[in-house]
Amino acid sequence: MAERKPVHITPEELAEQRRYAAMISAMANRPESYHVVTYGCQMNAHDSEKLAGMLRDMGMTEAATREEAGFVIFNTCCVRDNAERRALGNVTWLKEVRKRNPKLIIAVCGCMIQQPGMAEKILRQYRFVDLAFGTSNLYKLPQLLYQTLNSDRTVIEVEDVDTIAEDLPVKRLRNDAAYITIMYGCDNFCSYCIVPYVRGRERSRDMEAILKEARELKEAGVKEIMLLGQNVNSYGKGLEGGVTFANLLRELDEIGIPRIRFMTSHPKDLSDELIEVMGKSRHILPQFHLPVQHGNDEILRRMNRRYTRAQYLDRVRKLRESVPGIGLTTDIIVGFPGETEEQFRDTLSIVKEVGYDSAFTFIYSPRTGTVAARMDGQIPEDIATDRIKRLIAAQEEGQRKAMSRFIGMEEEVLVEGLSRRSDADVSGHGRHGVSITFPGTEADIGQIIRVRVTAMKNNTLVGERI
Ligand code: 5AD
Ligand code: SF4
Repeated sequence: MAERKPVHITPEELAEQRRYAAMISAMANRPESYHVVTYGCQMNAHDSEKLAGMLRDMGMTEAATREEAGFVIFNTCCVRDNAERRALGNVTWLKEVRKRNPKLIIAVCGCMIQQPGMAEKILRQYRFVDLAFGTSNLYKLPQLLYQTLNSDRTVIEVEDVDTIAEDLPVKRLRNDAAYITIMYGCDNFCSYCIVPYVRGRERSRDMEAILKEARELKEAGVKEIMLLGQNVNSYGKGLEGGVTFANLLRELDEIGIPRIRFMTSHPKDLSDELIEVMGKSRHILPQFHLPVQHGNDEILRRMNRRYTRAQYLDRVRKLRESVPGIGLTTDIIVGFPGETEEQFRDTLSIVKEVGYDSAFTFIYSPRTGTVAARMDGQIPEDIATDRIKRLIAAQEEGQRKAMSRFIGMEEEVLVEGLSRRSDADVSGHGRHGVSITFPGTEADIGQIIRVRVTAMKNNTLVGERI
């Protein structure tokens, strides 16, 4: 693959975008309100916060629902077929809403748009879409919306470049916890995965820019930061001065934000140095999302994961040694092409062996353009469905066992909201990443509260204030 260098969006370009935003806010025919619909991962959730920040700067307010909004953006995901179908289904449904509100403007952005051929497909099949733009053009929203408002045609902007845009306005979803993207893109090319094709080459933000953002968040009273990247362990590759993820964590730990988390990690890049930093740090939470994907070496090889089952288990052992009680979570795929019953059982057994606090389980979904989509032995749907059911059952059993270690323990919970089951309870995540519910009121939201875990009910932990 040809060498591609990251393109830093200059302050002048961003000033230009701010001028467009100001022009829009002065326009009489601009939409007054917006609604962003987000699919997919945390990276997308954070991109949506940036979209909302830019729209706020254009003088628009947030509408509670898409039906009430004058401008609706779908920030899409294409990592699996169902995410893509849901996004397209909902976009099509808005076409009906527009019959009632002819001024409605519909935009589609994110990973789905970045797929080869998608721009043409939109122009052909989804002509009611007013604006479509890819992941690398996000910072250009003001200019693109300005063009859309001044044109009868669909505006489409998809570039295959690896941009880094600093200092975009952000309208955060929460005041107490915040996302910080530390790197973009992915170079791993796991054979099933579309991400490297739609999010571009791996590129890291400058450490100073990240530290500055973190200090500002600390000043604003944020209690938890979540560092984001497709492969945070390879943070620093391509930067000057031998920067590593472990160095970054050390520096962030010094700032004094009470809780630091990160995702996602690739087992092959999980260094001893990082594990040691976690063991010694004050603020990095004792939790780790370490996608295993599969328990069988032959499948791991064909997935191009570049680790074996034994190497993965060695990382788990080392993590548990250095950070006792660490919370472990994972991602697992069943029904990868050619997966035999026996190979699938290796996945069941690794789940039992590790004992994850939770796992995201997926049926393999062929993605056009990836290596695995061209492999022989695609697994019939009924077999894949049967396997995922058995996997979920094994995981739930393991999870109950794993979570019972918390009973009787003290945990610090960052309260996220009232419990879904009862208004007399609140819930949030403990330091190990597990959700805990306990008696409380709205006044607790955004606070870190010490709790003793007393029991486990329906796979969630319950506790009482200390
Ligand atoms: N099919 C099923 N699951 C996938 N994932 C990524 N690509 C696919 C695919 N084609 C899963 C992986 C990854 C998570 C974010 O999504 O488990 O870790
Ligand atoms: Fe996809 Fe693999 Fe990159 Fe994760 S590490 S985004 S699964 S290619």
